[in-house]
Amino acid sequence: MSERFLVTGGNRLEGEVAVGGAKNSVLKLMAAALLAEGTTTITNCPDILDVPLMADVLRGLGCEVELDGSIAQITTPAEPKYHADFGAVRQFRASVCVLGPLVARCRRAVVALPGGDAIGSRPLDMHQSGLRLLGAHTEIEHGCVVARADVLEGATIRLDFPSVGATENILMAAVLADGETVIDNAAREPEIVDLCNMLVQMGAQIRGAGTSTLTIEGVKKLVPITHRVIGDRIVAATWGIAAAMTTGDVRVTGVNPKHLSLVLDKLRAAGARVTYDPNGFRIVQPDRPRAVNFSTLPFPGFPTDLQPLAIGLASIADGTSMITENVFEARFRFVEEMIRLGADARTDGHHAVIRGIPQLSSAPVWSSDIRAGAGLVLAGLVADGTTEVHDVFHIDRGYPRFVEILTDLGGDIVRVGATSEPAQP
Ligand code: UD1
Repeated sequence: MSERFLVTGGNRLEGEVAVGGAKNSVLKLMAAALLAEGTTTITNCPDILDVPLMADVLRGLGCEVELDGSIAQITTPAEPKYHADFGAVRQFRASVCVLGPLVARCRRAVVALPGGDAIGSRPLDMHQSGLRLLGAHTEIEHGCVVARADVLEGATIRLDFPSVGATENILMAAVLADGETVIDNAAREPEIVDLCNMLVQMGAQIRGAGTSTLTIEGVKKLVPITHRVIGDRIVAATWGIAAAMTTGDVRVTGVNPKHLSLVLDKLRAAGARVTYDPNGFRIVQPDRPRAVNFSTLPFPGFPTDLQPLAIGLASIADGTSMITENVFEARFRFVEEMIRLGADARTDGHHAVIRGIPQLSSAPVWSSDIRAGAGLVLAGLVADGTTEVHDVFHIDRGYPRFVEILTDLGGDIVRVGATSEPAQP
C-alpha cells in the first residue's frame, strides 16, 4: 500500500515558490547524453523519482551516473550497451527516449516497452515509422522495441500528429545519420526546444527548433557538454492554478512565463490578476474563480498535463465549463474521482461539462497518474473536511518537495505512511 496525503480544505495559499527543472525535459536530456562519449553534466535537475529511475536505465546501458542534488553527471562509454531491459524501463514512460540515441550510437537497440501513467493508449507507431524511414528495421518482439540499422540515412518524415516522444526519438537518431532529415509536423513544446539547444551545443546541426519543421544535418560525432534544464511549466502552472482555486496570492519563479501564455490567459479569464516577470509570474485571485472553457492541444495549445487541474478549477468556479481532451483518450478517468468529492461533472467522449459548486466535500480518492494526483490534492484544498489522497507515489514522480511547498504556502497537507487499507474500489 502506498503512502497517502491527508489534505484539509479551507486555507488560502499565499507566498512564493521556485520551481526546478522540467521533468519532461530532464529525462530526455539525460538520454541525449548517450549520444556523446565522455561526461555530460546536466544542471537544474528536479528532485523527483523519475530522475534516479532514468539514471538506472542509463547505468544498465553502461553509463556511469552521479546524482548530486540538482546536478547529474553522466559518463557514456565509447560503446554503450544497446539493451534497456524491462526491470529499469517499465516504471516510467520517458524511458523509451533512449531508443533514438541507441539507434544513433550503436545502430541497434532493444528497449522494453515502457510503463508510466494510466492516461490511455500510448502506441509507438510514429517512433517506429520515423526510424524505419531513416533506414532502421524495427519490430516489437517479446515485449521490446527492437531496432537495427546497418546505415542511418536522412529522410523526410511527416508525423501524423505532433507527438513529443516521436519527435524526440527521431531527432536524436537523425543527429548522427548521414545527410539531411526533415521532421514535418514536429512537436513544438518548450522541452523539444531545450533538447534541440542541448544537441546543438553538443555539435548537432538543427534548424527550426520551436517550429513544426525540424531540419537536421547529420554529423559524425557529438561531444559532451554542460546544460541547464528549463523550468517546469507544468509544475509552475499547478501552483498558479492552486492560487486561483484558493483565492490566494502566489508568485512562481524559475520558469519562462512565455511557456505558459495560454494558461495564464485562462487564469486571467477566470478572474485572476496575473503579472509577469522574466523569470515567472504572480497570480492573485480576489474572488471565486469564474468558469472558463479549456481544450487541450499540443503546444502552444492548452497542455493535456494541466487538464486535471483545470477540471479542479472548473469544479468550484462560478458557472459551467466545457473541457475538451484532444491528446489522451482516457484522461477523463480522473473525473470519477472528482465526482467522489462532490463535483457536478459529466463526460461524453472527448468532452466534460462541469457545473461549478461553491465547495467540494472531502472523501478518499485515488491518484491514477502524476497530474491527476496533483489535481486531487488541489481539489482537497477547497473541500470541506479532510480528503485522503491515495497512491501518492504518482505525485512524487513529477513534483519535487510537494508537501513541503504546499505547507510553506499555507496549505494543510500531511503525508502518512503505508497502510493495509483495501485497494481502490
Ligand atoms: C509527453 C509527455 C506527457 C505529455 C505528452 C503530451 C513526457 C515524458 N511526457 O508524452 O507528459 O502529456 O507529451 O504533451 O515528456 N501517439 C501515437 N503514436 C505514437 C506516439 C504517440 O498514437 O507513436 C499518440 C499518443 O497515444 C497520444 C498522442 O499521440 O494520444 C500524444 O502523445 P505524445 O505527444 O507522444 O506524448 P508522450 O511523448 O508520450
